[in-house]
Amino acid sequence: MTCLNADDKAHVQAIWHSVAAHAQEYGAEALHRMFVTCPQTKTYFPNFDCSKDSAHVKAHGKKVMDALTEAVKHIDNIAAALGSLINLHAFDLRVDPGNFKYLTHNILVTLAIHLGDKLDCVTHQAVDKFLAEVATALTSKYR
Ligand code: HEM
Repeated sequence: MTCLNADDKAHVQAIWHSVAAHAQEYGAEALHRMFVTCPQTKTYFPNFDCSKDSAHVKAHGKKVMDALTEAVKHIDNIAAALGSLINLHAFDLRVDPGNFKYLTHNILVTLAIHLGDKLDCVTHQAVDKFLAEVATALTSKYR
């Protein structure tokens, strides 16, 4: 477990309103970047139109970013906040845990593009740790 400290939590919370306000745009961009840079991830979405800004990509990107917003709201207990998603990914979707870093990496790249100077190196580190903690939670029931 990554263990966010108090400063990390404050940095994530301070920037997240700028992210939540663009949930669909940033989520769709991150998802599409994942599909392009890590095409094997598309195998989990056989019925999706994975092209840029498709209705599927926009709707799913928003769902992913809204889930992250919930995690930020409950940053002291991320695993509890994401309870149903943990079961979904582990038992129904059976997403290989190795894929989570592809999505979290592309979320970070997307935030870096859009947030510019707001994502200074300390905030970058805090968001990176936060996303790693979300990925750890979402893969915690695999074994
Ligand atoms: C930061 C990590 C992730 C978050 C926060 C997240 C969040 C979500 C959310 C909110 C849903 C919708 C659940 C619902 O409709 O009830 C979902 C579904 C899904 N996720 Fe994830 N997810 C993550 C990582 C991944 C990864 C890495 C993959 C595969 C590469 C993946 C594959 C899927 C699939 C296939 C669905 C079902 C899509 C559908 O058919 O509508 N997820 N995820």
